[in-house]
Amino acid sequence: MSENIVNSKKNAGNYAADLVIDGNIVGLGTGSTVLYTMERLSYRIKEEGLMIKGVPTSYQTAVRARNLGIPLTTLDDFPKIDIAIDGADEVDSDFNLIKGRGAAQTRERCVAAAAKQFIVVVDESKLTKKLSAVVPVEVIPFALAVLCDKVKSLGGNAIVREGVKKDGPVITDNGQIEVDCDFGEIDNPESLETELNNIPGVLSCGIFTEFKEKTVVIAGNATGIEIL
Ligand code: A5P
Repeated sequence: MSENIVNSKKNAGNYAADLVIDGNIVGLGTGSTVLYTMERLSYRIKEEGLMIKGVPTSYQTAVRARNLGIPLTTLDDFPKIDIAIDGADEVDSDFNLIKGRGAAQTRERCVAAAAKQFIVVVDESKLTKKLSAVVPVEVIPFALAVLCDKVKSLGGNAIVREGVKKDGPVITDNGQIEVDCDFGEIDNPESLETELNNIPGVLSCGIFTEFKEKTVVIAGNATGIEIL
């Protein structure tokens, strides 16, 4: 990762952490940008006595949060939360998102849906006019062929994600399979999201279009941030 990107992620992540106030229940997204948010939250907990609880969206985030001394809770205890902070792989000009490079989009969707405010932290290279990144889809193995067939009928190409340090498919935190679906430029993200999420056996695809009204995008650059 270039120094510019690192600084851009750090600027966005830090800014989001400073939006959190005492008593907040905070959805903690997954990925490298949110890690900066968590590091800054950890600093604020230790130095300012900030009192918060985090709801992690993945095993990775839970481990990181524990190591950083961020107290954790669950959606079982707090089905409604104050603020969720999460990264994205692409953000278009209407605030449609593609998420799931870390295969965490199902829990990320649950946490974003439960939150009053959804803060998306990205480096500015993630901003695009039209979504075109690969769309991750989490599916139960039983429905894998049905998903692949449907993706083909929608003009896409589905590839089961494989592990880097493991042979065979990536098994998600929910014990399911992650499939990367390439549709090229996506003309209608809302309808593609609905088509994919409605396939029986799909837990969640990585297209997020339904949180726009509560979304603030913080796009980091090498020297600061822009709020969209
Ligand atoms: C995790 O599954 C993803 O949705 C991440 O939030 C997304 O990939 C952003 O990751 P980075 O902040 O590492 O770019």
